[in-house]
Amino acid sequence: MNPRTRRTVSSARPVTDLFGCYDRPSQPGHSSRRQLGWWPALVLSQRVIYDERYNASGYDKRSAVRVLSAERDALHEAVTRAAQANRDAPEITIFDFGHGTGRVTNEFVTGYEPTRYNRPLRVIAYDVSAVGLKKSAADLRDHGFSCGQMAWDAEAKTGYLAGSLRRGDIVVDFVHGNEDEDPARMIDLVRLCTDERLALVTTSWYSGLGHVPTAELRQSHLAALDLATHERGEIVIAASVAGDLVEAQLDWANRQAAGAVGDNPIHDPGDVMYETELGQSNFLHVFGVDFGDMARMVSRKGHKAWIEAIRMPGDEFADEDAEQENYRGVQAFNDRLRGREWTEADYAAVHTAALVRSWCQELATPDGDQTNGSGQELSTEREFDQIGV
Ligand SMILES: C[S@@+](CC[C@H](N)C(=O)[O-])C[C@H]1O[C@@H](n2cnc3c(N)ncnc32)[C@H](O)[C@@H]1O
Repeated sequence: MNPRTRRTVSSARPVTDLFGCYDRPSQPGHSSRRQLGWWPALVLSQRVIYDERYNASGYDKRSAVRVLSAERDALHEAVTRAAQANRDAPEITIFDFGHGTGRVTNEFVTGYEPTRYNRPLRVIAYDVSAVGLKKSAADLRDHGFSCGQMAWDAEAKTGYLAGSLRRGDIVVDFVHGNEDEDPARMIDLVRLCTDERLALVTTSWYSGLGHVPTAELRQSHLAALDLATHERGEIVIAASVAGDLVEAQLDWANRQAAGAVGDNPIHDPGDVMYETELGQSNFLHVFGVDFGDMARMVSRKGHKAWIEAIRMPGDEFADEDAEQENYRGVQAFNDRLRGREWTEADYAAVHTAALVRSWCQELATPDGDQTNGSGQELSTEREFDQIGV
């Protein structure tokens, strides 16, 4: 049997086997913090950091505008493309990695009209912070969602399904992960929620991927997100890019050059330590041209991938006008770059960007190898893996 035919992958198999199938030339094997040799000496638990941040109110209220227009656009467009490319899929499934309090996703969920897509909706809300997930659940309850039991384990060593909320044809599953676990565990957790199907859309807003130290471990997470997503599905990962935290980037680049990073997990250009609103010291990788490399990593035949701006640099928004002005800048920037790959300077001009991996039927057909989409494609030359929904 063709080892690349992921149709054969079942959650009954050990997760390590899943990555045995994932043997594309440019892909690293998977790694967990433990395997990289610095777990558990390094105490930089995102679970602890974000539980504290969500317990306080400052983090959630930092901007007068909760959901950016460009985030809303990106999510709606991805779901629409996925629904069109998968007309036979029984439900729309969204896997939201680093869901937090559901800032972007819950707005979509509460406004979802099953008749528009002719299908029910299922969202897998995944995060290492139970506090964030509980806030998201409370928000959905305020919008008429209800549930059976929810069971949380603040110290859980392995990811688990804490419970689900339902309103009519819409179900949200809350999955509490552990960042020290093999990222491939996420694939099992998605399949657990979806009756063995893969996600039609995988999203991540202000992505937790940036909090994952080392390029190798970020790639392992991305590989797991890819494997959790249907081949004809969509991946949208919005993350900080080089126009964000500019001073911190310079400072940590200088420290790296001087060999003065101390015990901090600073390895790559773009790695910074920054102080949160609570005074916590937190790790973030600010993406640059490596974001394009990651988009290429998850693009195979039949895929179109691109980077798009989500937010231009500047202060948190004081009001809706400020957000709309920024949004106009985003649209102009994306219009200007359509047709070419992003350079280092492009990333430096943007605060948040999204990596988008999309399905394009014309590119999957034998004579459809010519690039003929938006012109922002990064690569369409990878081997085609077919997966059943
Ligand atoms: C910047 S917040 C964004 C939250 C939310 N998506 C939003 O847009 O408001 C990043 C989120 O990623 C989560 N996170 C960090 N590392 C993670 C990991 N390894 N796995 C899953 N979630 C993670 C954090 O707990 C946090 O909720």
